[in-house]
Amino acid sequence: MWSQFLFILFIAVLHQNVLGTTLIGCHHCPSLKVYHYIVTNETIPNNFLEQCSYRMSQRSCSIEVIIDFDTKITTINVTSSTEYMETSINTIINIKDELKHIRHISFWCSNPKGGCNDVYYLENVFKSISIKDSSKELESLLIPTNQTIFNNNSCVTFSNQTTSIECSTEWLEDSKACFISSMTNVELSSKICANYSSMNNYYLTQAMTFFINNYSISQTNHRSLLCAVNECNSMENLERIDQLINVDFDASKFFNSTTTTTTTTIVSSTVPTGSSSTLWLNKSINYCNLFLFLLMSFIYIVMLS
Ligand SMILES: *[C@@H]1O[C@H](CO)[C@@H](O)[C@H](O)[C@H]1NC(C)=O
Ligand SMILES: *[C@@H]1O[C@H](CO)[C@@H](O)[C@H](O)[C@H]1NC(C)=O
Ligand SMILES: *[C@@H]1O[C@H](CO)[C@@H](O)[C@H](O)[C@H]1NC(C)=O
Ligand SMILES: *[C@@H]1O[C@H](CO)[C@@H](O)[C@H](O)[C@H]1NC(C)=O
Repeated sequence: MWSQFLFILFIAVLHQNVLGTTLIGCHHCPSLKVYHYIVTNETIPNNFLEQCSYRMSQRSCSIEVIIDFDTKITTINVTSSTEYMETSINTIINIKDELKHIRHISFWCSNPKGGCNDVYYLENVFKSISIKDSSKELESLLIPTNQTIFNNNSCVTFSNQTTSIECSTEWLEDSKACFISSMTNVELSSKICANYSSMNNYYLTQAMTFFINNYSISQTNHRSLLCAVNECNSMENLERIDQLINVDFDASKFFNSTTTTTTTTIVSSTVPTGSSSTLWLNKSINYCNLFLFLLMSFIYIVMLS
């Protein structure tokens, strides 16, 4: 009886901790929340979890905020996943669909306390991210002119991508645009593809992802441009995207604002090390579970012998 009970407990603890699959609860909204204004860190609606439920047995929680600057509509998508997603903040700045200006700010979290996709977490994300966007200066590249003639020397061609992603630098008979994209990974090495495109849904995109690991912040950057002017897919224009769109993540603001509910001593540091109380909390919960697990294993072994 005793040993059966302990065995079940043992398996449960083992499953949750040693196999690294901590199950948490997350808020989940069945439909998107729509607000008729541009949400900023001063105007985050505090009622977006109304009519939402709480889902157990998830591995990651998320909130995605989509801001349409032309219609001044903000959409909030509160969801969760049974797959583990690294704690991260993602921003996407877009000019697309005939010069529409759309911005996405989203995050994934898996705080063991659960329910991290709430208004407090969203406020922290908004406080710690700052975006300077002058990408309008590049709009002329997205507008076809009557001089746009795509022949076999209209676009720059270049590729240093490996085979994992296709980048054919051949001239296409039905070319309507020049394309360039760069992917910069967490090791800060970048891959570039510049070629012809037969698409004419001209756009400009800059996406940044900040991964918030236990003791460090790493980031990836993805830029792409599908443009309508001769030789617009140059390295210079790719660089201009970086210069005109600036997204910064201030880890200290992110962590400091998460300390409101706990009173942990914080080692102050400009470097985003593991000085946060959220991470400290994560760790202490993990240690607590590990202790529980070791205790259970010990009792179990004693019972068996
Ligand atoms: C909400 O976000 C999730 C996760 O990114 C996504 O799978 C889902 O399609 C989104 N829902 C809508 C309605 O956009
Ligand atoms: C291109 O369009 C402009 C006006 O938009 C016009 O003045 C010019 O003559 C046109 N050029 C050609 C080559 O059609
Ligand atoms: C480009 O097109 C011209 C004619 O339109 C042709 O003479 C030339 O050989 C082509 N160049 C390449 C590199 O395909
Ligand atoms: C690809 O080319 C860009 C621009 O020349 C360079 O910065 C980058 O390091 C190159 N990447 C690889 C993997 O060769």
